[in-house]
Amino acid sequence: MNDPRPILFFDSGVGGLSVLAPARALLPRAPIVYTADNAGFPYGTKREAEIAARVPALLGRLAERYRPRLIVIACNTASTIALAGVRAALELPVVGTVPAIKPAAVLSRSRVIGVLGTNATVRQPYVDDLSEKFASDCLVLRHGSAELVQLAEAKLRGEATDPAAYRAALDGLLDQPGGERMDVVVLACTHFPLVADELAAASPRPLRFIDGGAGIARRIASLTEGQTWPEDRAKGVAVFTGPFEPPPGLRAGLRAHGLERIEFL
Ligand code: DGL
Repeated sequence: MNDPRPILFFDSGVGGLSVLAPARALLPRAPIVYTADNAGFPYGTKREAEIAARVPALLGRLAERYRPRLIVIACNTASTIALAGVRAALELPVVGTVPAIKPAAVLSRSRVIGVLGTNATVRQPYVDDLSEKFASDCLVLRHGSAELVQLAEAKLRGEATDPAAYRAALDGLLDQPGGERMDVVVLACTHFPLVADELAAASPRPLRFIDGGAGIARRIASLTEGQTWPEDRAKGVAVFTGPFEPPPGLRAGLRAHGLERIEFL
């Protein structure tokens, strides 16, 4: 028997594609349902209570409709706020996305690391806990950028973006006391790896950028080890939570990630 149940990825927008890509590379036959909560986008400027209520409710509806074998919350903001609530509400394995502070601390020579996320993520106690646990001998600088989220969305739609905007986001870290010694930057929003090349090009000096995508892909592979997959690669489904006509550039970006069908919740 080949198990047709999909893996369900969830984000506020296209950011989760940076998690989907390494997961597809490891598990090429896995059927995929990718949900962008465009009706609730963006998450990073919302209050905790709203995200904590919205995400478990939406994932409950999605789980009922698509019957996934596993859910991946491919969004740092939703994970740092709502992961425990989702796990409590659903009887399914749920993989979250948390800022890659642990590997950043292993890499940093200067012991100054930056955490670039959404405004909501960088103020979470979850980030304090990770910093204390894995980077207690590091200075951990944080900066929240709503602009970078919009830039990543624009890039995926095929639109040109302004290099100065990437520099401004980096300056949010570099201009803080100690920023001159920072050598590793954690991309703590799943939208940001989609613009990692632009960030690197805008940086005034070489920085290491690190995100959790590859680690999450390995976690998904290990949680589904021994399970069967359909023989043929099924067409991936992109689900939007609100009425929306995806522009041609976005459709092409989704297709490049194997998401050939579009549905609405
Ligand atoms: N991609 C999301 C994250 O990882 C959130 C972006 C947003 O909606 O503000 O945090």
